[in-house]
Amino acid sequence: MSRLDSFIRRVTAQREILNYIIDLIPEVEGPVLELGLGNGRTYDHLRENLPDREIFVFDRAINASPQSVPDGDHMILGEIRETLAFCGPRVKAKAAFIHCDLGSGDPTTDLATRAWISPMISERTGQGGIVASGLSLDLPDFEEIALPDGIQKKRYFLYRKL
Ligand SMILES: C[S@@+](CC[C@H](N)C(=O)[O-])C[C@H]1O[C@@H](n2cnc3c(N)ncnc32)[C@H](O)[C@@H]1O
Repeated sequence: MSRLDSFIRRVTAQREILNYIIDLIPEVEGPVLELGLGNGRTYDHLRENLPDREIFVFDRAINASPQSVPDGDHMILGEIRETLAFCGPRVKAKAAFIHCDLGSGDPTTDLATRAWISPMISERTGQGGIVASGLSLDLPDFEEIALPDGIQKKRYFLYRKL
């Protein structure tokens, strides 16, 4: 498969998964946390489809197109290992949905990320809240939920906090 085919599959799956979760969370209170602004594509999709939710976005740098950059109150700049742990005063409520898009493509880096980010995500998610991650996470207080039909297994991982 060409890299172009692979990219198209990845972003198509992301859109399907985000749409699936957008339909799952109306009853769950709390903000959305987007871990990894990147180009801003998934943030923009969430913002367009969840106009009444507060969305806080985390990244170490802003490299998104200008129309997809959150305002200063909702862009949390820095290393997520530090900012997610100490974002409570700004974010306040526990999240209804956390989207974690931090996969590096390097298995060692991804395993290290999984180890430090899993407990932080657990801490920041409210009861009944959903986590979608490109990396598998270690979340003992969550149940893993099925991907929408047609999405290849292990492309993404979905969890609901018990
Ligand atoms: C794959 S991109 C996100 C793509 C985004 N979802 C989109 O649709 O455009 C991952 C982003 O996470 C950021 N990132 C990765 N690890 C990070 C870390 N430990 N702390 C802060 N930012 C991080 C990178 O700077 C990059 O912008």
